[in-house]
Amino acid sequence: MNITKICCIGAGYVGGPTMAVIAQKCPEIQVTVVDLNEDRINRWNDADIRNIPIYEPGLGEIVAEARGRNLFFSTDVEKAIDEAQVIFISVNTPTKTYGSGKGMAADLKYIELCARQIARIAKDDKIVVEKSTLPVRTAEAIKSILDKTGNGVQFQILSNPEFLAEGTAVQDLINPDRILIGGDNQTAEGQKAIDAVVDIYANWVSKDRILTTNVWSSELSKLTANAFLAQRVSSINAISELCEKTGADVNEVAKAIGMDSRIGSKFLKASVGFGGSCFQKDILNLVYISKSFGLNEVADYWEQVIIMNDHQKRRFSNNIVKTLYNTVSDKKIAFLGWAFKKDTNDTRESSAIYIANDLINEQAKIAVFDPQVTEKQVLSDLDYLDTRSAESNRKYVSIAANAYEACHGAHAIAVLTEWDEFVNYDWQKIYDNMQKPAFVFDGRNLLNGKELTQIGFVYQTIGS
Ligand code: UDX
Ligand code: UDX
Repeated sequence: MNITKICCIGAGYVGGPTMAVIAQKCPEIQVTVVDLNEDRINRWNDADIRNIPIYEPGLGEIVAEARGRNLFFSTDVEKAIDEAQVIFISVNTPTKTYGSGKGMAADLKYIELCARQIARIAKDDKIVVEKSTLPVRTAEAIKSILDKTGNGVQFQILSNPEFLAEGTAVQDLINPDRILIGGDNQTAEGQKAIDAVVDIYANWVSKDRILTTNVWSSELSKLTANAFLAQRVSSINAISELCEKTGADVNEVAKAIGMDSRIGSKFLKASVGFGGSCFQKDILNLVYISKSFGLNEVADYWEQVIIMNDHQKRRFSNNIVKTLYNTVSDKKIAFLGWAFKKDTNDTRESSAIYIANDLINEQAKIAVFDPQVTEKQVLSDLDYLDTRSAESNRKYVSIAANAYEACHGAHAIAVLTEWDEFVNYDWQKIYDNMQKPAFVFDGRNLLNGKELTQIGFVYQTIGS
């Protein structure tokens, strides 16, 4: 099957960059990305490429190259579905906040709406690709909706999970470790659909990196990959607490164990806890599925990864309060970083939100600086927690134009995102303008502790 037109529903952190790279690498395929959110689409179409809604190194250049040629952003969902041979679904699947499975199961309402919309509009055979991370066996539900409410046309459902990490999305897409495509490989039609999607990626990814499986293996592999990665972070964070008690240094331990080629060096950086839209949500999903099959030990095993992560965040804020003589009331605490990791403006599940919330409960005044996160975002993240009124959040939190302003007059600094620029600041100048003693709580083990201590800071890092 020769694919010439594809569309993607959802112009978010996954849909936007993924489609931009497909468009760049496959100039003969017309790629249309649609979204219900008009403001988001307008920003993707903004003449000034710096205004696109997602900050990712290298993304602006790719969008500038392909946009208007074979990459289009639109709110006309129906037209895009009608014209496309392959439809990627890349809408968000947040953790349910109501009803059965609340706080654990994935909310599939957007996925179902997409499926119903596709069924209603499709007048010829379509390949529907799950790009969103979904609970195992969601494809079955999508298929049932498509077949039962459709116009009699044939649908093939594939699972093609995205493994890009934010901040390195473009590189991850251009040079992926593997592409995973799950489909109904037992039937000729299913195999044909799998081959069609393989051929799209084969334009730039070598075939030995394109893995095909059945649908359920593909869906479960995505959840498992994220659970394993998150587990590594929780494992090293657990060791960080033990290091603090024993005098071992977690960075040294991580290096020593990471050089074991069976363990490997990645995802061993102790931190103030993992964040991001995926890890917690996907593990909760795994826990929920396990419980629903009565596999309580399996569920408990994975849930512990999240319990450890919550503990690490709480431990960090408790330590700030304890170190600042057991009171932070009315003290200014500067936050360097709000995003859940560097090189992204995404703040979903960022540890900074929870640390801020804890400290505001202790009546601290928080001054935030993050090079990519807006004031509106910081405040809406806190409001979303619903711990106190929006008015109250605004009383305790301010956003600074730069790090020097955030730290001016502060009692302490909490480093919460590992932005490269933080390392190059004039730390002497920052110190001179702070209350004394001046503390740095380095939640990312980012800064040179020796240098800071020489200046006069009381420096604390995680796990040493
Ligand atoms: C993705 C995946 O889809 C999710 O499953 C994965 O686990 C995390 O990453 P992401 O791209 O990060 O989500 O989400 P987001 O940036 O929120 O983008 C989703 C977009 O879909 C939003 O712009 C939203 O407006 C749009 N949307 C949602 C629709 O266009 N239609 C809908 O019915 C629902
Ligand atoms: C993750 C997966 O890596 C990606 O494959 C999947 O598609 C989506 O989820 P992402 O959430 O973008 O990607 O970021 P990731 O780099 O995995 O980091 C997640 C969190 O773990 C961040 O808060 C990061 O700071 C933290 N982390 C990561 C650590 O604390 N220590 C580490 O060693 C690595």
